[in-house]
Amino acid sequence: MNRKLTDIELYAVCEVIASCMGLHFPVERWAILDRNLASAAREFGFQNMGGFIQWLLSATLNKEQMEILAAHLTISETYFWREPQVFTALTDFILPELIRSKGKEKVEELATKSRLSGRERSIRIWSAGCSTGEEPYSIAIALHKTIKKIEDWNITILATDINPKALDKAEHGIYSTWSFRNSPSWLKSSYFHHKEDRQYEIIPEIKKMVTFTCLSLVEMSALSNASTMDIIFCRNVLMYFTNEWVNKISQNLFNSLSEEGWLIVSSCELSSNLFPQFTPVNFPGAVLYRKGKNGSVHSSPSISYETERIQPLSAEASAKVDLTPSTFTRHSLVAYAPKLQQRSGEGGSSTLHQPPTNVKPPEESITDKLFAIRLLADQGFLSESLSLCNKTIASDKLAPGLYFMRASILQEMGKSSEAIASLRQGIYINPDNVMGHFILGNLFIRMGNTKNSKRSFKNVLDLLNGSEDDDILPDSEGLSVKYIREIIHANMQTQQRNEKRNPYQT
Ligand SMILES: C[S@@+](CC[C@H](N)C(=O)[O-])C[C@H]1O[C@@H](n2cnc3c(N)ncnc32)[C@H](O)[C@@H]1O
Repeated sequence: MNRKLTDIELYAVCEVIASCMGLHFPVERWAILDRNLASAAREFGFQNMGGFIQWLLSATLNKEQMEILAAHLTISETYFWREPQVFTALTDFILPELIRSKGKEKVEELATKSRLSGRERSIRIWSAGCSTGEEPYSIAIALHKTIKKIEDWNITILATDINPKALDKAEHGIYSTWSFRNSPSWLKSSYFHHKEDRQYEIIPEIKKMVTFTCLSLVEMSALSNASTMDIIFCRNVLMYFTNEWVNKISQNLFNSLSEEGWLIVSSCELSSNLFPQFTPVNFPGAVLYRKGKNGSVHSSPSISYETERIQPLSAEASAKVDLTPSTFTRHSLVAYAPKLQQRSGEGGSSTLHQPPTNVKPPEESITDKLFAIRLLADQGFLSESLSLCNKTIASDKLAPGLYFMRASILQEMGKSSEAIASLRQGIYINPDNVMGHFILGNLFIRMGNTKNSKRSFKNVLDLLNGSEDDDILPDSEGLSVKYIREIIHANMQTQQRNEKRNPYQT
């Protein structure tokens, strides 16, 4: 990929970005940084990159300029019901426990008639780094599904981000099918109105539950030490920060949580080195952090990966999750190894002291390329994303993930037949790829092709034979076997009902 900036320039910019915004750009992401800086330069009105870099390295940016730069340098990728096992933990375990304990507090309050006790039937949740709103709206939907008399509760869902453009989109609450790419079908059908042109609008009842505000996690102080939040979601945000900043921010998040509050980070961000104050708690397919359950608020900050143990939950235990502190194994962290290596490769220090001599960016891996392709698609550059995907396929014809990615982009562009052709190519390369068959089955359903969707779903169920419910599927961004089976069974039931009504359909 042709870069506009030299290694030395990129290195210097990285230092500035790390110190004023906390963002960390390892060499593997320099190609993306280079591209993003070029688009930022255009928005700031610079004709050439040299002038822009000189200005960036010498200017003190004001708040508005910082927000513009952040909008170009941060990644806004998100979608509804991301990492569904986290939402299962929320609806099946955390919220019921919270409701029970808050209900008990209310009874105690009435009994003591202590109006000033500050206790109320309230739940406060913060989505920190909410991007375009899919996460906080998913949280609102989860609450709406779980709490029977929701009108009796005082619910706050605060959603913050540094990127004002993302927040504008969030406040509009209108989304394309791309935002639903991994969500269960009931979510779209029950909580959105279909507008023209494949757009879906969140229903007012859910929309009014969320308050959006512009806030930088690097500069936050207003919410710190308030200790009022019951749950904080801060997912897929901190992975872009220097370790130094993650430590500071995680302490601020800790201070913002109530006594037994929960911090939810994404599965690839789990790290006891970075969140030493918290106690990890196992749920089926997910590990969440808790503040001080059972007096462990002051847990040792020096736990290392070697001493960690994760205990997989037995089916019996999954049915009734034990909310006592869990422990980790190194083995269980294998899936997150690339991220951990990235951080540990920094030798414990994230500050850049000396420009490197002879920095040679490594060849981009398929994962990096997929990341760049998805990034373009997420930002709405579908044809650019498609052409990058096609170019990548031309140079690497044997990576099924590329064909599946191309199918998702084509699907988003409304080109269903081409999407199907691409999926079939991916499946031809790897006939055992469960996600390929699963996406194909869903696509056939959308096209009303019942016969083919049944065939694809049967392939999925056959391939899943022998898998455990809690197993996570490769290439699925965290979907569990149980979740896939449930979706297929629900789809099949709907199809059977439709067939009874209309026995002559395909
Ligand atoms: C990849 S999105 C994650 C969205 C959502 N949490 C999820 O997991 O789907 C990361 C978000 O973090 C935001 N972000 C990055 N740096 C930030 C900062 N310093 N303060 C607040 N938000 C920030 C970005 O603007 C972006 O919207």
